[in-house]
Amino acid sequence: MAKPILVANWKNYPGSLVEARAILNGLVKKKAIYKKLNLFVAPPAVYLGAVAERVQGWGSVAVENLSSQEKGTHTGEVTPEILKSFGVRLAILGHSEQRALGETASSVAEKAKIALKSGFIPLICFGEQVRDAEGEYFEFLRQELKTLLKEVKKGDAHKIVLAYEPIWAIGSKSTGPIDPTELAQTILYIKKILSDLYGRKVAETIAVLYGGSVDETNAGILIRNSGVRGFLVGRASLDPKKFESIASAIL
Ligand code: PGA
Repeated sequence: MAKPILVANWKNYPGSLVEARAILNGLVKKKAIYKKLNLFVAPPAVYLGAVAERVQGWGSVAVENLSSQEKGTHTGEVTPEILKSFGVRLAILGHSEQRALGETASSVAEKAKIALKSGFIPLICFGEQVRDAEGEYFEFLRQELKTLLKEVKKGDAHKIVLAYEPIWAIGSKSTGPIDPTELAQTILYIKKILSDLYGRKVAETIAVLYGGSVDETNAGILIRNSGVRGFLVGRASLDPKKFESIASAIL
């Protein structure tokens, strides 16, 4: 079986390099656990170097977003080539907090194309804003995935990772994580959409993660029988003890 995937989305929480280093010091103590899974740490970009140095051998460094500019002279942008020189392996794309700033599903699709071309794993985020009683979010998810994946050819589909992140479940203002039964149902539905897009065989190779209020108390129940390969973790990824519990729960 393929290894579970765990992604620490630090967002812009560590307010200084000193804080970022303190988290890394906590993580490194449990590197034996992290070696057993595919661990990615996505820090604010200015800390990439510090993270890359420290996680070598037991984790990989990731970015929280990718520029829409693949190359050329663009003041203020960081090209894939520069990121690669820091050992970046995965790019979080289309996170809801970027969408709130204007990122669209179409621009995420373009970035997924750049990520694949540059040799990064595109971690494509998507999820409904709210859950309506009529189940309209199901249709939303279908349309959204169609747009997000329009540039991903069948031959490349196995290289992508999806993160199902219902927006209502993300962050401290949320009502908490999704109910495990509803998660299993939604993941099944997502896999059906992937089957329709790429065929069942290819769809089975696409890892789907869950994100939204994952912590040490719910990771075990959310992974069991839900069909997810792992988690994209925000707040709980800043606390090495909580994060280690999450890692242990998915092994
Ligand atoms: P959270 O964030 O774990 O703090 O809810 C998840 C995310 O935004 O990826």
